Amino acid sequence: MDKNKIIVFDTTLRDGEQSPGCSMNTEEKIKVALQLEKLGVDVIEAGFAAASPGDFDAVSRIAEQVKNSSICSLSRAVENDIKQSGLAVSKAPLHRIHTFIATSPIHMKYKLKMEPDEVIRRAIHAVQYAKTFVDDVEFSFEDAGRSEISFMKEMMDAVIDAGASTINLPDTVGYRLPHELGAMVRELTDYANDRAIISVHNHNDLGLATANTLAAVANGARQIEVTINGLGERAGNSALEEAVMAIKTRKDAFGELYTTINTPELYPTSRLVATITGVEPQQNKAIVGKNAFAHESGIHQDGVLKHQETYEIMRPEDVGVFKDSTLILGKHSGRAAFKDKIAHLGFDKVSDAELNSAFERFKILADKKKEITDDDVRMLITDEALNSGKTYELVGLQISDCSNGMPMAAVSIKKDNEVIQDAAIGDGTMDAIFKTIDRLTGISGELNDYKVISVTEGKDALAKVTTRVTFDENAPSFVGHGLSIDTMLATAKAYLGSVNSYLSQKERLSKKTEHQV
Ligand code: KIV
Ligand code: ZN
Repeated sequence: MDKNKIIVFDTTLRDGEQSPGCSMNTEEKIKVALQLEKLGVDVIEAGFAAASPGDFDAVSRIAEQVKNSSICSLSRAVENDIKQSGLAVSKAPLHRIHTFIATSPIHMKYKLKMEPDEVIRRAIHAVQYAKTFVDDVEFSFEDAGRSEISFMKEMMDAVIDAGASTINLPDTVGYRLPHELGAMVRELTDYANDRAIISVHNHNDLGLATANTLAAVANGARQIEVTINGLGERAGNSALEEAVMAIKTRKDAFGELYTTINTPELYPTSRLVATITGVEPQQNKAIVGKNAFAHESGIHQDGVLKHQETYEIMRPEDVGVFKDSTLILGKHSGRAAFKDKIAHLGFDKVSDAELNSAFERFKILADKKKEITDDDVRMLITDEALNSGKTYELVGLQISDCSNGMPMAAVSIKKDNEVIQDAAIGDGTMDAIFKTIDRLTGISGELNDYKVISVTEGKDALAKVTTRVTFDENAPSFVGHGLSIDTMLATAKAYLGSVNSYLSQKERLSKKTEHQV
């Protein structure tokens, strides 16, 4: 093991997915996992396999497809969780089980209602049991940030002897200040004395997650648990892009330490996660926010033009942001130029069918929109990939004048080459669209969240709609995506996307017989 290498453990698909409104379906998780592999993440925490059959399915399908990153599943320190994790990750060439128990006095007393001795016994058993499935076992001391150092040393001896090779110290409630967390990591790294890799997992409740992660690295941590766009429980986790770029940019402070992240993939990964979850990073978000490299004031613009480093500490292209993002392609441009452009944007795994369909949509868009930017093309390709394999396809939408008090929508959709149509009146145009789709599909959905963003500026901008719909009160919500110059058309596509996603999940799970959680 190279002592200068910082292992990047991404938990976007587990802790990130726990953020309100960020749940993803299996197909979406697979897309994110494949992109994380391309980004060069060392370990992908693909989920919590025992949480539900859907989670198990997602982890095991990711394990089948990702080859170059280790696939990990989280488990409480209980046998069934560990077993489901072990089964779910088994097909991955590189795999790990991550198991945990709380170690802080407050968690042990009120949540676990266990004496410290019992916590140690459970931890030992969890690691030993996990070792019957995999070689690589990580153990987390939940709420390490508020745990006693002496108890963590005792726990460390116990779980290392049982076979854990990574000890993770989560600041679960985001309580620690950087100098305190740094001191804790230093003491425990010295104590571990190379018997295990020390890892950190910082929450952002006080806005200090990345600062804490970097303080930990400076004090001996060699694994960082992070998420794309800083997604995660409550205020989120330490953002992968921030920690990685800080280590890369401040070589003077971090010396020989390095990650093997392919940094030009940071921005495309951030866009994919934002598109799938419908949760956009704030505009001034470091590294990947819309304004991260935008210079508004004349003085700054002048400085950057004269010498880039006057106001830029990183080159935008090093994180995958290309300033000249206007595509000089129009309605007369050919397929080859389009293909060239998407390859340049990093979509090298697009199938011929996806390319053809995206090209057709590009031509339609080029007829209506003056300038097509990289973001438009990126959105076309991502949307194509997210909506492939659908049961229902939107064929037509007609909406009535909504000022006369009777908003009406007529919708036609296609299933297995058969076109069906219907119309309904609603409380508003969107309500009329949803009611009509419900009637046509025979499935009634409840809209939990609706978001619309404009992909670029201008009146002719593409509208990107994300819907989150539940079809059964005991099941999670299903995300749908719609892209169009017309917001209502994008809305209908997104809602139908949620229906499709629900149906495909239902079909896949009904075919699974061997796995029971
Ligand atoms: O925040 C936390 O403590 C966690 C652990 C389960 C690693 O997410
Ligand atoms: Zn966490």
